[in-house]
Amino acid sequence: NQLEMELEAIEKGGYEHFMLKEINEQPRSIADCMRGRLDAQAGRLIVGGLRDYINKFQNADRIIIIACGTSWHAGLVAEYLFEEFARIPVEVEYASEFRYRNPVINEGDFVIAISQSGETADTLAAIELAKSKGATIFGVCNVVGSSIARATHAGSYTHAGPEIGVASTKAFTAQISVLTMMALMLGYQRGTLAESKYMQLLNELEAIPAKVEKALESNAQIEYIASQYKDARNFLYLGRGYNFPVALEGALKLKEISYIHAEGYPAAEMKHGPIALIDEEMPVVFIATKDSSYEKIVSNIQEVKARKGKIIAVVTEGDTSVKSMADHVIEIPATHEALVPLLSVIPLQLLSYHIAVMRGCNVDQPRNLAKSVTVE
Ligand code: G6P
Repeated sequence: NQLEMELEAIEKGGYEHFMLKEINEQPRSIADCMRGRLDAQAGRLIVGGLRDYINKFQNADRIIIIACGTSWHAGLVAEYLFEEFARIPVEVEYASEFRYRNPVINEGDFVIAISQSGETADTLAAIELAKSKGATIFGVCNVVGSSIARATHAGSYTHAGPEIGVASTKAFTAQISVLTMMALMLGYQRGTLAESKYMQLLNELEAIPAKVEKALESNAQIEYIASQYKDARNFLYLGRGYNFPVALEGALKLKEISYIHAEGYPAAEMKHGPIALIDEEMPVVFIATKDSSYEKIVSNIQEVKARKGKIIAVVTEGDTSVKSMADHVIEIPATHEALVPLLSVIPLQLLSYHIAVMRGCNVDQPRNLAKSVTVE
């Protein structure tokens, strides 16, 4: 009815869809997530939820991350972060596979369960299983008081605020923000992350919300790119290192809301299969920021170009090499490579959003999908 429609319009805060509103909220939701935890000037980083379990965390033999969907992608980013900064081996598991395969779990394992809703049935069951084997379970949830938040020994909320769009956006960047803070805190306390680098990373992290704001400024350009590729039947997303999980997430966003088949791949794996798909009809999204794998990804771009694929590249501000090869480049601000996912995912969220809108899809409530999957 009229009243409900007006209420919804107010909730959408002037945006046409919740998804677009939530994408645009990210400078604020990431800042909310860091508020009270990070103070770069004072050199202070405290993830409160960890306090009582910091010894277990520091001395863990292994970190096991369990999640589903987009939260699983955040877990993959965390694998890179924890291994790089804290030098603890990490395994990232789909909750649904983990719980059914008689996994090896020991008391020295520190399990991190990531869930926006805190209600995903498979994640909850995986937690109960790990708990029964004596592992310590830490939750990274968005919904306060949710089942997963209650089932874990301790946890930290992501404080992204309610996420209404079925396709997860701001919850993803908030999850990565919490996991980054955990990795930095752990690395510093274990002595595997040097003080000077730690301080530098705290400053870089604090600068992220403003850089997300900057990344959002490419919206009109991304809308134009969307208009050029909205009728494509397939998409390939490629990235390396910290941008590999971002490639997976970009492909998932497109599948979820536009129903275009998309695959995310680590760029180096392209030659073991996906390269066979490339022709002049195939748009390939490269996440090619200036980091330690830049030269490698540039040669992957050349391989796609030689096969006439259409190249859309997310690059670091000021990039020139990729610009000379790609059909379209979208710039994001420079940051430390470990923090890049927080920026590089933004244009991919917008790209999937605009394509879905142009195809007339129900962006906020895509067919066959649910915001939280509380059945097996
Ligand atoms: C569903 C949602 C996804 C979400 C996944 C995991 O599939 O549609 O957006 O990533 O569940 O949900 P969770 O609430 O556990 O993060």
